[in-house]
Amino acid sequence: MISCAAAKLHRGFVRQPSVSIVPIEVVQNESTEMETLRFLDAARVIELQREFGTPFYVYDEQTLLDRANDVLAFPNPYGLIGRYAMKALPTAEVLRILTATGLHIDASSGFEAERAMRAGVEPERIQITAQELPRNLAALIAKGVRFNACSLLQLEKFGEANPGGELSVRINPGLGSGHSNRTNVGGPSASFGIWHEQLDQVLETAARHNLHITRMHTHIGSGSDPDKWVVCAKMSLTIAAKLPEVTSLSLGGGFKVGRMANEDSTDLIAVGQKIVPEIENFAREHGRELSLEVEPGTFLAANCGALVCTVTDVVETSAEGGYRFVKIDAGMSEIVRPSLYGGQHPIIVVPGTDETRGTGDFLVAGHCCESGDILTPEPGNPEALQTRELADPRVGDALVIEGVGAYCSGMSAKNYNAFPECAEILLRVDGSSELIRRRQTLDQMLQNEI
Ligand code: LLP
Repeated sequence: MISCAAAKLHRGFVRQPSVSIVPIEVVQNESTEMETLRFLDAARVIELQREFGTPFYVYDEQTLLDRANDVLAFPNPYGLIGRYAMKALPTAEVLRILTATGLHIDASSGFEAERAMRAGVEPERIQITAQELPRNLAALIAKGVRFNACSLLQLEKFGEANPGGELSVRINPGLGSGHSNRTNVGGPSASFGIWHEQLDQVLETAARHNLHITRMHTHIGSGSDPDKWVVCAKMSLTIAAKLPEVTSLSLGGGFKVGRMANEDSTDLIAVGQKIVPEIENFAREHGRELSLEVEPGTFLAANCGALVCTVTDVVETSAEGGYRFVKIDAGMSEIVRPSLYGGQHPIIVVPGTDETRGTGDFLVAGHCCESGDILTPEPGNPEALQTRELADPRVGDALVIEGVGAYCSGMSAKNYNAFPECAEILLRVDGSSELIRRRQTLDQMLQNEI
């Protein structure tokens, strides 16, 4: 095992004199806390590993329902719609479970809206907030899908197709916040929404097409600092005051969720309680009782999912200053957040044998032929790696990656190296397990090739 101090000081792999490479920085995880399973236990992991074969995502229905209840309890003085940002995890059965609780849907493309409808969601409960204007918008609107215009051009196009129509506008309030600059979608460096100083153009376009902007929307980023989220909510009210027909305000999603044991999650009640008096003040000042909307993805889904893999190899580099790598049968083809954002996910080795195991410090490597396919980056920095203390792994052991319910199955380097899309299992409230998405076959992967 590499000593903590030695590893901390070491900066990268041994450099060969004739080869010019930039060494990857590796730092030792200073946390002494070993992560633990969230909704599974070791026996269940091994049972599922045998029954379904790895890799697979497993989702916990009870956790999904608990988080849905949290969202639906968001404090509000004059009514609330909670939407599920389905981009986080769009599998049909998950959409059905969440919408059965009363949640509506935030769709980020025309395709997502259709996907939700195919899962059985009523069109009236779907709102599209999209970077790209859906080509089939007219058909979707005719079915009852709601629209949130995200640019002046989108507003214009909606007006041309639906004179006299009703819609929402997404405003960039001038402030953003995210767990990394890649998930910050507000402020001057973000292309999302209509810049808050362009309200005159919004009103002019609406008047020209006789549109009714009854709803306003902001979403400033994912993994937002709760204090900034509250500041943004107050800024949004100032903007809503200038849109006279607005009676509903969506404050988006973005609530920060702790995936690692040492990270905090947003207390939705505490955040909501700071907003309620502001909405009440708004009602007194402007005579409009605004209903609220929130539309989280991460908060609802992140900690309801785990990726169960199998250890396929354990390799080590130089005895001095080298590392031990655990290789698994999944990687960026199933979970891209570590490589993209330096996203942190708990990793737990579940031994398949009974003998007592020690622990050691390891880097975890995914199965793709890509040096960036590493599951243990430094937090927020995919350029640098960080060892994790794990139970000594053996080939065949299960390895569980937690916190993968959001932005993993739906957002991965799908089919890279021709690895098939993996299966999805649901743990029902009654304890039974059910396949909700089959593993893709090679034929399915190739079916559109001519
Ligand atoms: N509403 C809108 C308009 C959005 O664009 C998003 C996320 C959400 C709601 C939900 O945000 P959430 O509650 O999940 O933070 N791939 C990143 C997150 C990107 C989210 C994109 N939009 C991640 O893995 O953290």
